[in-house]
Amino acid sequence: MSGLFITLEGPEGAGKSTNLHYLAEHLRAAGCEPLLTREPGGTPVAEEIRSVLLSQHSERMDDDAELLLVFAARAQHLNSLIRPQLAAGKVVISDRFTDATYAYQGGGRGIDPARIAVLEDWVQGSLRPDLTLIFDLPVEVGMARARARSALDRFEQEHVDFFQAVRSTYLERAAAFPERYRVIDASVQLSAVQQQLHAVVEEILERWHD
Ligand SMILES: Nc1ncnc2c1ncn2[C@@H]1O[C@H](COP(=O)(O)OP(=O)(O)O)[C@@H](O)[C@H]1O
Ligand SMILES: [Mg+2]
Repeated sequence: MSGLFITLEGPEGAGKSTNLHYLAEHLRAAGCEPLLTREPGGTPVAEEIRSVLLSQHSERMDDDAELLLVFAARAQHLNSLIRPQLAAGKVVISDRFTDATYAYQGGGRGIDPARIAVLEDWVQGSLRPDLTLIFDLPVEVGMARARARSALDRFEQEHVDFFQAVRSTYLERAAAFPERYRVIDASVQLSAVQQQLHAVVEEILERWHD
């Protein structure tokens, strides 16, 4: 038995967390009980690494240190939570995963994606998400939503150029591997975003039953 691994991606304010719960409700109504999790984090150790990643420090965090912390958290999350749940046949939905590393540490920070790929292969082996939803919207719209929501974390305080690079990296990856990605227009009102998710729910349920 092997489960299904779904990831939600996009910048801050795109609606990932809101729609994670919407997807889960619809899956539960159809008898599927997904495990909901997030990155960085998802387990006690990985959540501690998350707080190091998101908080402000008295020195600038080195880009490689940031990248390695992201993958340290991911190794913990994968091996202690995601892999066992998938092995038990569960649908696992994660709010962010390795596409975020390509977008933020690759696109945003400028780290060579080939170096990210080395860590991806090392930590994940052949494991990749079965389906990745990219919540796409203009940078200014996402930033305004994130600002209205709560105090900004270390990433949310980045500049427009950083988020432009994040957005274009996500879209480039979706264009390169169209079978794995579904791009959701997240700029429209919530009900119209959720309308686009109905096809995704159907697709998840079909694959889950197979
Ligand atoms: N389609 C939408 N239109 C307007 N506001 C939205 C929409 N989707 C989410 N929001 C609001 O924007 C903020 C960010 O949403 P959230 O789900 O937390 O995004 P993310 O998890 O991607 O950062 C929240 O206050 C949420 O209520
Ligand atoms: Mg969120």
